[in-house]
Amino acid sequence: MAATRTFSIIKPDATRRNLTGAVTAKLEEAGLRVVASKRIQMTREQAEGFYGVHRERPFFNDLVSFMISGPVVVQVLEGENAVLRNREIMGATNPSDAADGTIRKLFAESIEANSVHGSDSDENAAIEIAYFFTPEELVG
Ligand code: CMP
Repeated sequence: MAATRTFSIIKPDATRRNLTGAVTAKLEEAGLRVVASKRIQMTREQAEGFYGVHRERPFFNDLVSFMISGPVVVQVLEGENAVLRNREIMGATNPSDAADGTIRKLFAESIEANSVHGSDSDENAAIEIAYFFTPEELVG
């Protein structure tokens, strides 16, 4: 099967605790390759746009404030069935539901400060990658 791509964010709770390398190691151990990566400070407008689908949810404002509370690392991951593979290694959104050995079980602090984001479909992966990266930045 051909390699596909997904989009990942290492969230502020993880960068704050110096876990960028530890999280990336779990992704790589899961068979995913980091083909683009940058550490950025998101603006409020950027975070609101990225999470626009959640705009009506009660947690939206807190989520946006959290995502701009410190730097994040945005990444493009490549591998076989990348979206699914990444979701498996991330674990459930709420760390109390996450399986042993997953990133969220190991590192997440709460459902909000849950260390990583990953795309939920190939279609959204393409949209999310294009939101943060130009084609020239996907260096393989
Ligand atoms: P993420 O995959 O980045 O997508 C939306 C985020 O909203 C989710 O991870 C959680 O970190 C965050 N969030 C905060 N509260 C909730 C909640 N009650 N239900 C779902 N997601 C939540």
